[in-house]
Amino acid sequence: MTSTPPLQLKPFDATDVPFFANMAADPRVTKFVGDGSIWDQATLAEKTNNALRAAPLNEQGAARWFVALHDGQPVGVLVSTRREAGVEIGYWVPPEHWGQGIAGSMVDAGLETIPALYDSDNLIARVDPDNTASARVLTRRGFHVTGCENGLDRYTRKEPSSAAP
Ligand SMILES: CC(C)(COP(=O)(O)OP(=O)(O)OC[C@H]1O[C@@H](n2cnc3c(N)ncnc32)[C@H](O)[C@@H]1OP(=O)(O)O)[C@@H](O)C(=O)NCCC(=O)NCCS
Repeated sequence: MTSTPPLQLKPFDATDVPFFANMAADPRVTKFVGDGSIWDQATLAEKTNNALRAAPLNEQGAARWFVALHDGQPVGVLVSTRREAGVEIGYWVPPEHWGQGIAGSMVDAGLETIPALYDSDNLIARVDPDNTASARVLTRRGFHVTGCENGLDRYTRKEPSSAAP
């Protein structure tokens, strides 16, 4: 197992947009996100503005993003979005930090806060079947494939306390 670096999650704010924009402009990062293309300015603005507007969390599409800091430096972004079926999570790490346990550590931290934030134990994620590292982040944390949508595996995790007997 990858060793977990000590990191801290802080809410994403406007000063974090350039850090995120660098990842969204890197084809290595977007390879398994959406249609695989890097994000154009319009997409970047739409997504980051939606995260920054901090809509009420019972609203479909409302998002909260978090930046992972290691030694005070940003090393990843954890995203969460209200969906009909629960709360969808996603995570982005710059390639120079891949393989250091950052995504796993961000999801661990998110699992501590996101269910209470949204008042929902239903966490979901959608992952390209070829995105091995992303799938591993989830399966090691109790997520299971529960379906397939538009070529993406749908992963679901319920808090053990609310799982069916
Ligand atoms: C997917 C991504 C977030 C993983 O980030 P990361 O910080 O490198 O992940 P971690 O270091 O926490 O590793 C996660 C697990 O995958 C494993 N792993 C890492 N790279 C791997 C690879 N290329 N092949 C197979 N397993 C891999 C690690 O060993 C680790 O498993 P372990 O906990 O059993 O040791 C990162 O590659 C990324 O940002 N990709 C682009 C954006 C993206 O695809 N996001 C997910 C969209 S669903």
